[in-house]
Amino acid sequence: MSESDPRIAAAAAYVRARLGDEPFALALVAGTGLGPLAGRLTEAVALPYGEIPHFPASGVSGHAGRLVAGRLSGRRVLLFQGRAHAYEHGDAAAMRVPVGLVAALGAPPLLLTNAAGSLLPEAGPGRLALVTDHVNLSGMNPLYGEASDARFVPMVDAYDPALRAALKRAARACGVPLAEGVYAWFSGPSFETPAEIRMAKALGADLVGMSTVPEVILARFFGLRVAALSLVTNYAAGFEAGTGIGAPHHAETKRVAEQAADDVGRLVAALLSRDL
Ligand code: HPA
Repeated sequence: MSESDPRIAAAAAYVRARLGDEPFALALVAGTGLGPLAGRLTEAVALPYGEIPHFPASGVSGHAGRLVAGRLSGRRVLLFQGRAHAYEHGDAAAMRVPVGLVAALGAPPLLLTNAAGSLLPEAGPGRLALVTDHVNLSGMNPLYGEASDARFVPMVDAYDPALRAALKRAARACGVPLAEGVYAWFSGPSFETPAEIRMAKALGADLVGMSTVPEVILARFFGLRVAALSLVTNYAAGFEAGTGIGAPHHAETKRVAEQAADDVGRLVAALLSRDL
């Protein structure tokens, strides 16, 4: 499926020529502030996104824009250091080529990470949360314009139950507390209003953010097993009215994410040291 898209085939041919054919145990997308994960990889080889045919640029500060292959816990990992957002490109399919590339390179499981606002009182800034499901509040879909019946992607258990269970076991094993919840996708780039956050809560959201959902839809379209981890950088807007905590800022998002990147690194290392 992914190789029938000429843009993905061209990206995959380039990446294979540069990084070799050895299969990957896991592909990882590092969200805002989580780029330092790359520092944990040994034998790392990095390709700037600009070199890879048809790769979208990631212009958000806190995102390096490099594809890194390396080893973690002895296993080969493909790390996307930075992502393209729908709000940068005006296109919910901005991550189609990178996600399709994962499918074309042997379809390892895909672990997405993001920075998110929290609606869970018990999961404040610095905490990690496993995404169990999502609510798409953006009004967009990365499969608009897709012609085949494959566009009718089932989204029950989109967040792979076995991968989620493996992440929970890994979190227990390495002592990283892991909350869990439903992630609501707002298009951004402005943060949400307190009224929007109240709406999201009424609709069942526990986490809010500006990414991940289109990548999950694309991953399921390409037949990948996928899971997502949110790094809570702030309480969602107005969530703690009067404390000042409920007004998110990008600088805060980056700072908290950089601090917690270590927890994500330990969790992923523990995940890779067992069966996925
Ligand atoms: N809202 C949307 N995206 C985010 C937030 C938030 O509060 N924090 C980090 N990314």
